Amino acid sequence: MSESSGAGAEVVVENVCKSFGARVPVLRDVSLRVSPGEFVSIAGPSGSGKSTLLALIGGIDRPDSGEIRVAGISVSGLRNHTEYRRHIVGFVFQHDLLLPALTAQANVEASLLAAGVGRSERRERAQALLEEVDMSMRAGHLPSELSSGERQRVALARALANRPRVLLADEPTGRLDSTAARQALDRLIAARIERGMTLIVVSHDQAVAARADRTTRLIDGRFEPPTTHTAT
Ligand SMILES: Nc1ncnc2c1ncn2[C@@H]1O[C@H](COP(=O)(O)OP(=O)(O)O)[C@@H](O)[C@H]1O
Ligand SMILES: [Mg+2]
Repeated sequence: MSESSGAGAEVVVENVCKSFGARVPVLRDVSLRVSPGEFVSIAGPSGSGKSTLLALIGGIDRPDSGEIRVAGISVSGLRNHTEYRRHIVGFVFQHDLLLPALTAQANVEASLLAAGVGRSERRERAQALLEEVDMSMRAGHLPSELSSGERQRVALARALANRPRVLLADEPTGRLDSTAARQALDRLIAARIERGMTLIVVSHDQAVAARADRTTRLIDGRFEPPTTHTAT
């Protein structure tokens, strides 16, 4: 698993159920198939289970039943998700979650360090990634010295550092003004095209849905059936 190709991987979610505390079912028999390199957006009301689904795909949590396979790996069956999270998937969240005491450059390098990349390569790769998201000029700045849009771009650079084959983004533009949101979305899409990554974005933003290959809606823990347009 250590040498990921960077090319997009297929994501298969099959009959997944998930509850918290046994009482409240959050995901109820959810299935989803995303082709390698596809860009799917997931919409739906707050509390419908979107973040929970991304966490399961990302190996942050486990389904109660059903199966999740990414790049042919049974994520739900993995005993240890560390390698999977390090090399197959990347995450961008609504909150950038940058380490506050580290510069932008050091934040990107931190994920490379965790993956065992040597010092000079870490520096080079982090510089190239910050350049890609147009943050070279702010590489030495702390998160507190950056705007929320800039922090989100650094978070994207960090998510891309280990060349994920699937990028998962949970409301990545949710806290940004419209200009910054547009820029963040542009970077995300450019990064996907450059790498051929599979991209799954949870978002309420119409601009995200408009640019996705496909949009699907989670309602109350289930995917809404495709609408049939009938003339009345
Ligand atoms: N760790 C958790 N423990 C208990 N309940 C949770 C946990 N995570 C999410 N939930 C509940 O699951 C439901 C779906 O949450 P979430 O997946 O975050 O929805 P969304 O991202 O669509 O807003 C909510 O009712 C939420 O309160
Ligand atoms: Mg959420």
